Amino acid sequence: MKQENIRNFCIIAHVDHGKSTLADRLLEKTGTIPPREMRAQVLDNMELEREKGVTIKLKAVRMNYDLAGQKFILNLIDTPGHVDFSYEVSRALAACEGAVLVIDATQGIQAQTIANLQKAKDQNLKIIPVINKIDLPNAIPLEIEQQVVEVFGFEKSEIIFASGKTGEGVEEIIKAIVERVPAPNGNYENPLRGLVFDSSYNEHLGVVAYVRVVDGKISENEKILFMRTGATCEPKEVGYLFPDFKKGEGAETGTVGYIATGLKDISLVRVGDTVTNIQNANIEPLPGYREPKQVVFESFYPDDGSDFDKLKVALSKLKLEDASLSIFPESSIALGRGFRLGFLGMFHAEIIKERILREFEIPVIVTLPTVAYEVEKNNGETFTLETASELPDASEIKEVREPWVTATVFTPINFLGQVMTLCQNSRGILLSQIMANEKMIQLTYKLPLSELIFNFYDSLKSVTSGYASLDYALSDYAPIDVVKLDVLLHGEVIPNLSRIVLRSEAQKIGQNLVIKIKEVLPKQQFAVAIQTAVGGKIIARETLSALRKDVLAKLSGGHQERKMKVLKRQKKGKAEMARFGRVTLPPEAFKKLV
Ligand code: GTP
Repeated sequence: MKQENIRNFCIIAHVDHGKSTLADRLLEKTGTIPPREMRAQVLDNMELEREKGVTIKLKAVRMNYDLAGQKFILNLIDTPGHVDFSYEVSRALAACEGAVLVIDATQGIQAQTIANLQKAKDQNLKIIPVINKIDLPNAIPLEIEQQVVEVFGFEKSEIIFASGKTGEGVEEIIKAIVERVPAPNGNYENPLRGLVFDSSYNEHLGVVAYVRVVDGKISENEKILFMRTGATCEPKEVGYLFPDFKKGEGAETGTVGYIATGLKDISLVRVGDTVTNIQNANIEPLPGYREPKQVVFESFYPDDGSDFDKLKVALSKLKLEDASLSIFPESSIALGRGFRLGFLGMFHAEIIKERILREFEIPVIVTLPTVAYEVEKNNGETFTLETASELPDASEIKEVREPWVTATVFTPINFLGQVMTLCQNSRGILLSQIMANEKMIQLTYKLPLSELIFNFYDSLKSVTSGYASLDYALSDYAPIDVVKLDVLLHGEVIPNLSRIVLRSEAQKIGQNLVIKIKEVLPKQQFAVAIQTAVGGKIIARETLSALRKDVLAKLSGGHQERKMKVLKRQKKGKAEMARFGRVTLPPEAFKKLV
């Protein structure tokens, strides 16, 4: 196929605006998936069983299309739908020349519409605006059209009205992709340079790299090199997705394909890396590569301690497919054996938790999330803090830095006050406010990630009755004055309950915490001191009284002397227990504290 007859594009949208449904229609209209095999959101759920019963995940699908007697290849590249994967989105966009921007005809522009459009513009993509779901009775397509013109500056003539449900306008979208999106450039004669925009793991093919070939050609019998990780391999298979793996044609300049590497370690094939032939190790890699960075940590413990090995297996399977997940074993007095996991964000963490429950059927207890604080010690050593208990003594610390994000909030103007108050209370710094039109306003804030991960999104939805939307991307690290707040039960620190808090809030949080623990901790045979401390200094205390057992109940009548003896024995026993006893926090109580 000639390069000028290739189009590489993606679909971008705010969540639920109909990206997957529209993709279904494109696959249907181009005959890529025969009508009898069609089912809803085929791109989202496709688990195609290969001969050996292996499931694959679709990343980029090739469609053939004839327009006025000319044959075209249209490569639809799927972009991950959530902010945690914004780097992956930007790499997927870098593999395209055009983007279909889908906007719901009932909801109009939302925060992710703005953020995704901005990312697509940053990559110089040709944008095709589509107002979708026009079949809905409450659709207001003309009002939304006006909004799209005012906010984004598109011409009315560029905007396509469509319905992913009825198929209206879909033909027009395909034509627009062919006519408006530029053909890829690049040079077939140059040494191979391919951009890895996604990867997956397949039991038989090993790690599969999804690649946009920028220059040259990938052949099965030529050894390749992933320039950043240094991994090399002779591809087991090269081809494209149609929508199943179609082996055979080598991926060549301008097009999109897959390389089955046979490698067993997914961290060797990183999104954003450049693939080339082994003899071209000295060529300039494609720009924009970034190491994946975990920004949120949580500990996962099996609800039932005997599931530990099952959890270990489940995590190692998930890790095969997901290079951005980090896993370290750890143990806790309260919860037994478990794992400390690092994620790209809270959504990433939720997905992993959900998959462990659904695919592996292991209920887990998840501890409080901690953001990835950077700690610089006086001796020059710098490290990333993964659990609160790792924070060194204040005397050793030069500086602690926390991650910040740049957040875009898109809200109706009548909620402006509430949104600003929420952002300010979350230590937000207003960077800009732009009236999108007379009803909507776009606010850009810098916010600490630690504020964002605790209920910020829920609060935003609640103060705006669900009308505001949010998008964010990690921006940088800034110094912060934090301390480690320890919890002591009966004089012993419970490491899993330690948390990093702002110094200015330690007292308040410490006081609330002892009260909460008192409510959830079951009574013991002896009185238990519940304390919170900072740097070894107790800042709050509650006492949980001892369980009272009526040891006299069985003594019917009897002498006073005998009763006194029994009570004395009980008292002595309790004192012994109090001296040697340990208080363990049962998992049920623990769950109520995180
Ligand atoms: P994510 O994958 O979660 O980001 O969502 P998405 O943007 O892919 O949206 P999806 O295609 O899953 O559609 C969201 C909901 O809207 C689903 O319930 C669809 O059935 C519905 N929907 C999508 N397109 C249309 C449309 O054109 N008309 C109507 N009536 N419903 C639609």
